[in-house]
Amino acid sequence: MDDVLAYLEAGRERFLRELMDWLRIPSISSAPEHRADVRRCAEVLAAHLRRIGLHRVEVLPTDGHPVVYAEWLGAPGRPTALVYGHYDVQPVDPLELWETPPFEPQVRDGLLFARGAVDDKGQVYLHCAVLEAYLATRGALPVNVKLLIEGEEEIGSPHLDAFIAAHRDRLAADVAVISDTPMYSAEHPSLCYGLRGLAYLEVEVEGPRSDLHSGSWGGVVANPALALARMLAALKDADERVMVPGFYDAVRPLTDADRAALAALPYDETAVAAELGVPCLVGERGYSPLERVWARPTLDVNGLWGGYSGPGAKTIIPARAGAKLSCRLVPDQDPDTIGRLVADYLRQVAPPGVRVTVRQLHGGRPVLTPLDTPALQAAQRAVERGFGKPPVFIREGGSIPFVATLVEQLRVPSVLLGVGLPDERTHAPNEFFHLVNFYRGMRAVAYLWDELSRLG
Ligand code: BES
Ligand code: ZN
Repeated sequence: MDDVLAYLEAGRERFLRELMDWLRIPSISSAPEHRADVRRCAEVLAAHLRRIGLHRVEVLPTDGHPVVYAEWLGAPGRPTALVYGHYDVQPVDPLELWETPPFEPQVRDGLLFARGAVDDKGQVYLHCAVLEAYLATRGALPVNVKLLIEGEEEIGSPHLDAFIAAHRDRLAADVAVISDTPMYSAEHPSLCYGLRGLAYLEVEVEGPRSDLHSGSWGGVVANPALALARMLAALKDADERVMVPGFYDAVRPLTDADRAALAALPYDETAVAAELGVPCLVGERGYSPLERVWARPTLDVNGLWGGYSGPGAKTIIPARAGAKLSCRLVPDQDPDTIGRLVADYLRQVAPPGVRVTVRQLHGGRPVLTPLDTPALQAAQRAVERGFGKPPVFIREGGSIPFVATLVEQLRVPSVLLGVGLPDERTHAPNEFFHLVNFYRGMRAVAYLWDELSRLG
């Protein structure tokens, strides 16, 4: 491995520069005004992949943002790995809270600041560096590799299912490798074997045709904002349990072994609360924080609007109010079923005098990889060699909807070898990436191809 590792070592500065150039492209998938930037971001990646020697590099259209595909299949008889990641990023608001502009990457004290630095361009780019290192030093990889880097992960991958149906043959693989998750801590290189799923809803409560004078009409007309508040308050009880009938029916209970494994990881509740700036942690009674985030479903309000919120007072009954809601799901909950149950419940608890519309925006299924999956064990050895320390096995509370599709539809087991850290402010102002893990991640992935090639 010395040749490949030496190449990665010698290339450090250039890899960082190239990543920074890529980060300058504002590939915000949710923003229509950035459509051309998203496309350019895909094309820049494709050009890079061609340059480093990958084959059949294409920017493939979808009904939304394009998918970048590339392959190197020169190792017949060896396993084929599918590297999945995303080149799109989350919006940057509130912009005024960024210390340096989100698309002008800057390194400060070994941290690379930019939107997408760790989620997910930095982690995608480290894979590119490893492929380059093998191809430049040996002219070959020890395994076959396919890359699928999409541009709509941050908006729920709405067009990926159709894409897969159209390109199923290209995506056949023995294992998928995904670097889009945080490690447990800086001291704990990690392999993630579970992700939560997601059901995302938008609810709208409509009352009178237009805003009304609250003096003339207060007392005879239902107030949509108050009606919505009642409906939302009915979603959870004082123990933080979701009150929607049937919500927990499909939840796989935690086994004693699961609980013991989670309890073995250090967790300082007071320190976490202090770090987040909250008085204390809260959550479903009877479960530890890690159990609640990794292995129990939740329901959250993501946004809430209605009526007047400008300076001073305005005496109205608003015509409408609304909220965005999401449930994080665990095996074996189904996003469509849960979405329907929550929607039905909201309609049922709505007070009289208002009209309620609930829409399901997107969803994703949860995943859980069995710990005895051979590729996961190969990854365990690779992380140990790359980081000089064996990984801990973790689950995560976040979602990557395509992973369940890979596992369930394409029958490809997934290795989640992410090298982010929980403090890196993903989706928030001042996102950054600890550069030390950018480089350690390259080493681990270089060893991963070596380890996987031995699986035959
Ligand atoms: N990288 C994250 C997924 C993630 C975050 C995994 C935290 C584990 C811990 C990914 O880019 C993401 O943010 N996914 C969205 C998916 C959604 C838009 C369907 C998420 O989890 O909110
Ligand atoms: Zn994200």
